[in-house]
Amino acid sequence: MAAKKKPTVAIVMGSKTDWPVMEFTRNTLKEFGIESTVKVMSAHRTPHEAVEFAEGAAKNGYKVIIGAAGGAAHLCGVLAGHTILPVVGVPVKGWALDGMDSLLSTVQMPKGVPVATVAIGKAGAINAAILAVQMMAIGDPALKRKLTAFKKSMAAEVIAADAELQKELEG
Ligand code: RP5
Repeated sequence: MAAKKKPTVAIVMGSKTDWPVMEFTRNTLKEFGIESTVKVMSAHRTPHEAVEFAEGAAKNGYKVIIGAAGGAAHLCGVLAGHTILPVVGVPVKGWALDGMDSLLSTVQMPKGVPVATVAIGKAGAINAAILAVQMMAIGDPALKRKLTAFKKSMAAEVIAADAELQKELEG
């Protein structure tokens, strides 16, 4: 049996309640053959664990960290402040302000400490994975080929959907 590949992406969520959205990130990474570690740790509730994880992430073999949090979403910023790895941030739709709170608190980082913030919710969770794959594809021809195939299949789906719609409109 082939040995399991070491995870190269860490998905870090502020709460287990973020998982229904972040499962899309893990599944998308899997489609590209990328293994991930999924952790719950919070900038507010377990700040020491979050800092420790970020500080050790590079030497533990991770290439990208994908963070996800809702509300006063400080997690990605804290992770980014304690690592030189790229941090991608997914704003999770919160309970009061429809995700605008999460979006702004994730994206509005001070100069010098970027968080590559994607869209709120499911689209963002999927795009976070794709962005991580694109980062890792630099210098990885096999991953580049997978990305090219992915783009082609997405285009083919749109073209097929248009053909179907035209048929429906004619008939
Ligand atoms: C954030 O607060 C979490 O990332 C989550 O999106 C939100 C609510 O967390 P719970 O109160 O459901 O644990 O820190």
